[in-house]
Amino acid sequence: MNILFLGDIVGDSGCISVKENLPKIIKDKSIDFVVANGENAATEGVGITENITNELLSSGVDVITTGNHVWDQKETFDFISKQKRLLRPLNLLSNSPGKGFGIYNSKKGFKIGVLNLMGNVFMKKCDDVFIEAKKFLEKNKLKNQYDFLIVDFHGEITSEKMAMGHFFDGSATLLVGTHTHVPTNDGRILKNGTAYLTDAGMCGDYNSVIGMNIENSINRFFKKDSTKHFPAKGEASLSGVLVQADPKNGLANKVNSFIFGGELKNIY
Ligand SMILES: [Fe+2]
Ligand SMILES: [Fe+2]
Repeated sequence: MNILFLGDIVGDSGCISVKENLPKIIKDKSIDFVVANGENAATEGVGITENITNELLSSGVDVITTGNHVWDQKETFDFISKQKRLLRPLNLLSNSPGKGFGIYNSKKGFKIGVLNLMGNVFMKKCDDVFIEAKKFLEKNKLKNQYDFLIVDFHGEITSEKMAMGHFFDGSATLLVGTHTHVPTNDGRILKNGTAYLTDAGMCGDYNSVIGMNIENSINRFFKKDSTKHFPAKGEASLSGVLVQADPKNGLANKVNSFIFGGELKNIY
């Protein structure tokens, strides 16, 4: 069972690269299930629209996760309830529409659980992520409700992500961080069989400041003007993680960084 997880898709360049390259990558690598974080997929680089959601899903993404930018496009608040393949963090405050967890069928007929969580440190106010994760694991188990579990932990700091990785060790197939847009090089299988990577990086133009136009970002740090951020437009690198997992126990056999196209050196 081969699972591909792609980090935050940023703006048009990220979406174009997913559409152009993902179908071939799925074929080449015999990938059975694809999860991608889409919280920056809109043209403005924040949020996601219904059209973009549908385009990404028809390019081969099976489930789209999000994070702190989930409501940045107003329409998402309405359409998320009818789009079961678009998740928002489970621990958003209780009146939020949509869901943070779903179970989906893979091409091979396995049941895949996908869980979207958001960190508490330096992030928007949301429910305590460790308490919500504990409640989740009290109700759901590998090989019980689902054959595999993929967790997107959307967070700012490395220690919170790593602690959550160990908390899920043995209970998830993969726990991967998103949100920083910078890929880390610490992919490994933890003691009890969960594949872990602190951050998947982004699917966007790396000739940028985390996906946004360089000059404008520097100016904003100098506070020269209050121009809004806008995404860089060069060719995107697709960045994420590939996991080979064992259907017998739902745990990981192999984990590899995945980088394709654009500014970064390919790890393909
Ligand atoms: Fe992001
Ligand atoms: Fe984020």
